[in-house]
Amino acid sequence: MSLLDDLQWRYATKKMNGAKVPQEKLDYILEAARLAPSSSGLQQYKIIVITDKALLEKIKGIAYNQSQITDCSHLLVFVAWDGYSEERVSQVFNHMMDERSLPHNTMDGYKEIILNLYGPLGREWQAHHASKQSYISFAMAIAAAAEQKVDATPIEGFLPDKMDELLQLKGTGYKSTVLLPLGYREAENDWLVNMKKVRTPKEAFVTEMTITDAADMVDLPVTQSLDSFTQK
Ligand SMILES: Cc1cc2nc3c(=O)[nH]c(=O)nc-3n(C[C@H](O)[C@H](O)[C@H](O)COP(=O)(O)O)c2cc1C
Repeated sequence: MSLLDDLQWRYATKKMNGAKVPQEKLDYILEAARLAPSSSGLQQYKIIVITDKALLEKIKGIAYNQSQITDCSHLLVFVAWDGYSEERVSQVFNHMMDERSLPHNTMDGYKEIILNLYGPLGREWQAHHASKQSYISFAMAIAAAAEQKVDATPIEGFLPDKMDELLQLKGTGYKSTVLLPLGYREAENDWLVNMKKVRTPKEAFVTEMTITDAADMVDLPVTQSLDSFTQK
């Protein structure tokens, strides 16, 4: 099966049957999520795995009673940084330098650029930026689940503030962003399972552009070059 076959097979499962996903498949999906790229390699997010039935019942209540929350095998809760700080960025880069046997100050110039860029944009922008990174990992998990023939429902339909309260995230520096119940479809009770997959036609989805389609801008700002950092 190719990736495209897997993506055709998967769908946002509406009814799951409660069957358990084997540990090795769960590990594979989590590893794909961990290997996702992120802006500056900061991995501004992590995943909380929940199987506790009593906790899943509570989560269902703040996720518009969506049945997949309690009928899944494992619920993945993606959580992302609530903001950037010198301490957080340094911690990640120091780890990266240790793993690559490079001095801690190797990334200092780049770190300064990021902090100077993100700092003035405020905590709300920063949390949103971190949240966007978590969705890349989320997408990898969805694709990996499909490859493993594990059903997964992307879920944004929940109350993030209530979730943060329930999972006691307040004060940890993380906010919940998106949910991914993993499990197996109960095909006979799922109205979506046999519906055609509908997407924007390719011609409308993909547009090619050349210089003749672009604006005639002569005063594009000259920005600082990142080459010296990104080509290390
Ligand atoms: C970020 C995101 C949030 C979503 N939230 C929900 C949700 O709360 N409940 C649900 O049943 N489906 C949810 N969906 C599923 C979409 O409706 C579904 O992916 C889309 O209609 C395409 O259909 P398919 O995934 O079956 O191919 C969500 C999808 C994404 C990507």
